[in-house]
Parts: sequence; C-alpha cells; structure tokens
Amino acid sequence: MNDARPIGIFDSGVGGLSVWKEIVKLLPNESVVYYADSANCPYGSKSKQEIIELAKRNVDFLLHKQCKLIVVACNTATAAAIDDLRKEYTISFIGMEPAVKPASLHSKTKSIGVLATEGTFNGRLYQQTTKRFAKDVKVNIKVGDKLVDIVENNLIFEKETKEHLQKLIHPFIKMNIDHLVLGCTHYPFLMPVLREVLPQNVKILDPAPAVAKQTYNILKKERLTHQDTGKPIYEFYTTGNMDILNNFLKKLTDKKFSLYQL
Ligand code: DGL
Repeated sequence: MNDARPIGIFDSGVGGLSVWKEIVKLLPNESVVYYADSANCPYGSKSKQEIIELAKRNVDFLLHKQCKLIVVACNTATAAAIDDLRKEYTISFIGMEPAVKPASLHSKTKSIGVLATEGTFNGRLYQQTTKRFAKDVKVNIKVGDKLVDIVENNLIFEKETKEHLQKLIHPFIKMNIDHLVLGCTHYPFLMPVLREVLPQNVKILDPAPAVAKQTYNILKKERLTHQDTGKPIYEFYTTGNMDILNNFLKKLTDKKFSLYQL
C-alpha cells in the first residue's frame, strides 16, 4: 500500500508529456520515469510489427527502472501493441484511446471530428469504439499529417503551422462538427493554434485527464499507491534530442527533474 517504485510512461517522443502533466497533477506523491523514443518518431506510419518491437524495448527499459505500472502514452503504440504487451508481461498497462465515446454522447450537431495517426485509425480499439458508441453520429476522420513532426521540432507557433492546421481542419468545419477529438498525445500541444482556427462552439477533447484518473484507479485497485508525501523523483530519458525535451519540460513544469540521453 506504500509502494515507492515509479510509474513508467512512454511515447514515441514528447507527446506523452501531455499525459505526464496530468498524472503528476493528480498523483503528486508518485515518482515517474518517462521514456521518449524520439529517435524512432513518428510511430504513426510504421508497421504494426515494428511498433510492437519498439514498444517491447521501451517496456523493458522501464521495467529495468523498477516501474510498477506502465502508461502507454501514445495512441499509436496502444493501437498496435497493447494486446501483445498485456500477453507478454505481468505488469499492468494503461493505454490511450481517442475520446470518441464522450464526443458522440455529447454532440448536438451529431457530427464530430477525430484527428489521429494512420496507425490509430487502423487499430481494433478505435474501430470497435466507433462502431459501438457513434451509431447515430457522423464521425469525420483525418490523419494529422505532419503534426507530430511539427510538435517534435517545436514549430507550433510558426505561421506555416497555423496555415497547415487551417487546411486540415477546414473539412471538419464544413461538416459542422461540435467536438474535435485529439487522438494523438502530441496534438494537445497544438491547442492554442487549434483554438484560433476552430469556431468557438467546437469543444476540443484531450483524453489525458481521463488517463490520469484511470492510472489512479488501477494503482489503488492493485494496492500500488505511494502515500508518503516525500519528494517524488521525475526522470526523463530520450533516444533523441535532449534540448527539445528540456525546452518542453521547462515550459510545462516548475518541478525538479533529471534528464538523460540514451
Ligand atoms: N504521440 C503518438 C500518438 O499518440 C504519436 C504517434 C507518432 O509517433 O506518430 O499516437
């Protein structure tokens, strides 16, 4: 009941930091090890088999760091690999899934938009959820072409990014969507620009807070919580560029953290 081991989080890059932020906010006593596989980013256009291999390597790293639970903070890796991970390892995994269910339930125009990677749209989870919960709703989908690279390279506030998003979002506006589901953990970092290009009435859904809640529920259920209000340790490992991760973190948090390049 007082387990000081860290929670592990991985993503193809910096996107999962949007999930890290929510987990740290909700679970302030928990230490966290974050693994950014930026050298292999993007995962979105890779084959299922390639993503499974990468996901297993990321999990092995986090297990080596003694993690007690792993959050796959990547929709694409969840879609391709979570079934295999759950079969192969005894530890619990929490995955990401585009928030099609709440968007469909709350849509008044009966039209929603989903932005995600190719890998996520091809996944069984996405297809099942859409079939089950969006029966009477028009689900408009769009692959977020170039968006992961834009975030990874910190080009969020460039003029070209706004123009690119305007083009990408335009069909959604024509379809009168009232909810936009962000189906990739990189996309919440585009929120300020998305807000500028979307009509006011369109609600943007980021599943990160729900994933943090689910992490809490599983820790509690498995009696893995850390209740001491000591000093949690935040470690970040990247296979890519350390400066980019560092810049993101400086903007995201005022907490102390250690950063390592692999
Ligand atoms: N953050 C990943 C996701 O949620 C990005 C995918 C990619 O690397 O293409 O899907």
